[in-house]
Formats: sequence, C-alpha cells, structure tokens
Amino acid sequence: MVVPPEFIEDLRQRVPLSDVVGRRVKLVRKGRRHSGLCPFHSEKTPSFSVVDDQGFYHCFGCGVHGDAISFLRETEGLEFMEAVERLAEMAGLTVPRSVPQDPAASRQRKTALDVLEETTLFFEAALRRDRGRNATRYLKQRGLNSDIVKTYRIGYSPPNGLRAALKSKGFSDDDMLAAGVAGKSDRDGSLYDYFRDRVMFPIENRQGRVIAFGARSLGEAQPKYLNSGEGLTFSKKAVLYGWVQAREGLRRDLPLVVVEGYMDVIAIHESGVAAAVAPLGTALTPEQILLLWKLHNEPVLCFDGDLAGQRAQLRALERILPVLEPGRSVRLAALPNGKDPDDLIGASGADAFRKVISTARSLIDTLWESLQSEYELSQPEARAQFWQAIRRHVRSIGNNQVRSAYGDEIESRIALMRNQTRGFASMFVPRRAERPQTGLVSRHRALVALLLAHPTMVSANFEALSMLNSGDEKLERLKKALIDAVIRDPDLDVVAIRDHLEGLNLGDVLASLTGDDMKARLPFDPVAISSEKASLYFNELLELVDGRAGLFSNSGSRKR
Ligand code: UTP
Ligand code: MN
Repeated sequence: MVVPPEFIEDLRQRVPLSDVVGRRVKLVRKGRRHSGLCPFHSEKTPSFSVVDDQGFYHCFGCGVHGDAISFLRETEGLEFMEAVERLAEMAGLTVPRSVPQDPAASRQRKTALDVLEETTLFFEAALRRDRGRNATRYLKQRGLNSDIVKTYRIGYSPPNGLRAALKSKGFSDDDMLAAGVAGKSDRDGSLYDYFRDRVMFPIENRQGRVIAFGARSLGEAQPKYLNSGEGLTFSKKAVLYGWVQAREGLRRDLPLVVVEGYMDVIAIHESGVAAAVAPLGTALTPEQILLLWKLHNEPVLCFDGDLAGQRAQLRALERILPVLEPGRSVRLAALPNGKDPDDLIGASGADAFRKVISTARSLIDTLWESLQSEYELSQPEARAQFWQAIRRHVRSIGNNQVRSAYGDEIESRIALMRNQTRGFASMFVPRRAERPQTGLVSRHRALVALLLAHPTMVSANFEALSMLNSGDEKLERLKKALIDAVIRDPDLDVVAIRDHLEGLNLGDVLASLTGDDMKARLPFDPVAISSEKASLYFNELLELVDGRAGLFSNSGSRKR
C-alpha cells in the first residue's frame, strides 16, 4: 500500500515534533527550540534539541538526527507504516489508503459503479411510473418540485423488479451483491432487493458518480432511513452528501452550510439561500472537515438551538480544532429549537433560514461561550477551571501557527475577564475619595525597568504582566513589545532586547526607563542587583500595582 507523500508532509505540519518527542522525553522550551536529555545516549545535561518549525531533532552529544517518523521507529520500534498511523492518530486523521492497484479489484469496483448507475436510472424511472405514485405524492407533500428531484436524482425503489432489470443489462448476482443493491437471505441463500418501497437518495462521490444510497421510508416504517452498507465504493466517513450540487451553488458565491439530513440539503438548495452538504447520519469526521474546506474556507455548521444541539456543537468543535489550518475555519449557527432547516424553510420560508445563517458566530466565540456556559463563573475555582478547559482545547489545535494565534486570543480574553472580575470586586471596597493615584504609573515604570534588566522574569510572570495596565500608552506599548520578544525567544539577552525595542521606535521610553533619572528614583539599581533581589522587588511591585499593600507603600496612602 502506498501513502501519498502529501499526506505525510501534512502530518509533519500538523503534529508538532515536540509533541511526539515530548511523550518520551521531558522537554524545555527555549525560543523556537525545545531541549531535553537525549533518549539515544545517556547524558546528564541536555544536548538533545527539537525544532518544531523544521520538524527535526538533533543531538549535539551523539549526533543522532531525524524527524517524527524516524523518532517513532527508533524509540518505539515501529515500522514505517505504523509510525505514519501513530502520527495520523495524533492529528485525528486516518491514513488514506490508495485505491488498490490490483487490476481485479479495480475492475470489481468499476462494475459496482456501473451497477449503481444502472440502479439509479431504474429508481428514477420507477418514480415516474404508476407504481411510484405514492412516492411522488410523498415528495410533493414535502415540497419538492420535479426540478429538484432531477437535480438530486431522487427515485423510488419498488418492492421488486430491480434484479431482473440489472440481469437484462448483463450483471450477475455477485455484481448486485457487491454493489449493495441486493442482499442474500440467511435462510436459503436466495437473493432479495435491498431497498424496497422507499424514496431513494443517491449518494454521489465528488466526480458525481453514485456510490451508495440513502433510502427513506414513505411512512412510519423503520428504520426511517436505510443506507447502503460500507463496501467497494463507499466509506461513509469520507463522503459528504450533496457535494456536486453544492459546488455548483458555490459558483454563485453562496455561503456553504453543513446540516444533518438529506432533506435538509435538498430544501436548502431549493430555497436558493445557500449551498448545502451533510454527513451521512454521523458526526462530522476529520476527513469530512478537510473536504468541506475544499469547497469553502468558512462553512457554516447548523445545530439545533437546544441543549443537546449545543453539546453536539461543542463536540464538533473538538473534532475541528485538531485539523484547523491557517485561513480555514467554520462558523456556527443555531436553529430555532427542535426545527431542522427543512422544517424551518417549510414553516417560515427561505428568509427565516437566511436569518439563521446571518447570525452564525465565529469558531472562537462559540468555543468560548459554549465552554463558559458549563461553569458557574461567579466562583473563582470555576473560573480557573474554565480557563484550564479552554487552554486544553487550544492545545489540541494541531497547526502551530493557528495554535499560537488562538493562544494569544484566549489569553487576552482571560486577562480581560480577570480585569473585569477585579473591577467588579473593587465595587465592594469602600473607596477613599482622595486615594492618590500618581504613584501608580511610576511603580509600573519601575516594574518594567526591572524586567528590562532581568528579562527572564517575563515568562514566569507572563499572566500577571499581561493583565496589568498602567494607563500610560507608551509604557504599555513597550511592555507589550518586551513581553512578545521574550516569549518568542527566551534566549534574547538584555542588549538584544534593547536593540529590538529601539528598532520599534520605542527608544525614548526605553531611555526614560534606563536612564540615571530612573535610577535616582528607585531604592535599588535594577541592573546591579542580583536576580534573586530583582525577583523579590518585582513581586513586591507586582502586588503594589495590583492594588495590594507591601514594602513600597511608604506613605501608607494605599493602606486602609
Ligand atoms: P433525522 O432523524 O433528523 O431525519 O436524521 P431528517 O433528516 O429530519 O429526515 P426527515 O426530514 O424526517 O425525512 C438525520 C439524518 O440522519 C441519518 C440520515 O442521514 C438523516 O438524513 N439517519 C436518520 C439514518 O441514517 N438513519 C435513520 O434511521 C435516521
Ligand atoms: Mn427533517
């Protein structure tokens, strides 16, 4: 079996090498690299280095070098294919099996497709005949006109007649069984028609060839929908119903919506409001998500507005996050309770559905809100738990760039939330009318001056720092640039940081923080003091600007 090289490349992109190695070796992040003790030779100081961007590891001690696949092969004794499988699992993907090259198998598959096409023609014809009367009435009652019946090749499976028709076209019993349109009786081994007295929805592949059927009973007969079994032509997790018709719709710049049912796809297409596809009775698979993005960068997923729908939505997001890519996303729309799109369009018209699409929310907003709604946020423990949960979700994003963009976004939302909570709490603190605020900015300045001299404190205090705001715009810009630079490359030294900040036109603020003027106002020299002292002062200052009293509150004005 051959795995397409693009797939392996894709895996390398999606699964950070540090995740693979990190399962076996404790890694410490250093800028763009991770380092740890080499698993290939014994050592006491780390000389093993992992570079995610480039997807390779290297040991400066013993010289081993390789990528995710070689790492898995060598540390876990896996075969090449097993290593690929393992990575695919981590990425939430399944390895595409290339079509069997075996000529007999490909001939069988071609025959099955021919049987399915012939069967589709038979069902379409049966719908137009007398015995299709009930089915025609049923479709009419559900609001389908003859154009749409033609577009989706909807048909009717009569109680009998298919096998004779196929036989007259030269197909054998085995051909019919292999295509899944006939079944074999357990009792006496005789053949029967698999679909009987049902409305037939052919399921097409992306080339528009029929590969399976969904079949709805005309009344209450169970199951409501009977689908073709998996087989030579059909693997339901890799197919979207309505693909070909949706692609047509997208030529006209319509939005793309993802819904649950065959009838929803068809009703939406008929309304002209959107292009639509559906998975086949299961939750969206990673394969289907990637397929969606071949059609549209930002499909809209529709879910019921009730609690069950919200849960289903969150589960869908959990499957989407691992496969997100730069520039690709989804939006999420909530349907009125208990109504699928077909019901809604039937009852309230196309505009009602258009409105649903237009209120679709972004992935990040939906993720934030649906997780948030699961916690009792008035409790600090619950808030912390919510932050933990959302960070865990962000960590599940496979693509490095997307993960860090999401990381930035949620950290700033968390910081905002903390500020709001603090603002809320402070309303209950009796305010002293003349509380002097003038000292605040200079304390902030002292804090940043300390950071400039001891940049290693940035990472350890990242959260606390990002939620502080001195109100001084230039100081804030410099603080943010400093944090960004250090987070991106923790190896930067003091001089490199100053160069960097000057390059960003922050030279004047920088000078005001590092000049003699500043030193004269501080009880210490930020550059000269040891890192232990610096950290002590830093924490004191942090508490102070954070609104709590400490060593520096000499005037007593901040104490009550
Ligand atoms: P629903 O039960 O929501 O039905 O199933 P629906 O699409 O609204 O159908 P109508 O409007 O009553 O005709 C949603 C999808 O789940 C799959 C089908 O793909 C269906 O379209 N399904 C449902 C099955 O495969 N088997 C079933 O028995 C029921
Ligand atoms: Mn329905």
